[in-house]
Amino acid sequence: GAGHRPGPVAVLVGPMGVGKSTVGRVLAERLGVGFRDTDEDIVRAAGKPVSDIFVDEGEPRFRELERQAVADAVAGHRGILALGGGAVMDDGTRALLAGLPVVFLDVGVGEAVKRVGLNAPRPLLAVNPRQRWRELMEQRRPLYTEVARAVVTTDDRTPEEAAEAVLDAL
Ligand code: S3P
Repeated sequence: GAGHRPGPVAVLVGPMGVGKSTVGRVLAERLGVGFRDTDEDIVRAAGKPVSDIFVDEGEPRFRELERQAVADAVAGHRGILALGGGAVMDDGTRALLAGLPVVFLDVGVGEAVKRVGLNAPRPLLAVNPRQRWRELMEQRRPLYTEVARAVVTTDDRTPEEAAEAVLDAL
């Protein structure tokens, strides 16, 4: 049991469009704990959407803001935490995840692009989304695997089923 360990109950990582926020909210509801999403923390602190941060300040600056948001969240949040798809790209951010109950939510390109199309615009998928998504996943898959203690595939699962699988994996 992880009952006495401080820090988040679960940290969800994985690519854009996998459903980290959707599954995370279901999971938090099931467990009766809070849900936190570092993208939302960054947007609130910056006072502008992720896409504007990328345009105005660049991706390296976004990764710094993200590292700070992850540091704050892992220190202060006791519920479910979802990270942005690229958070694992930053060495400092990965270091912050050591020892935490990190779960990699996996998905195929077809489902991911379909799901991403349903919500907020992603600056990194603005052009050739399928190809860009594949390239990013190729780079990042080893990093998701490195930080995670379990992998849950979501292609053939509803958010409720995926949340259940995360619970089983924890
Ligand atoms: C990014 C993923 C996004 C957001 C930003 C960059 C990435 O989060 O942090 O657009 O590099 O994969 P989601 O995974 O929640 O879409």
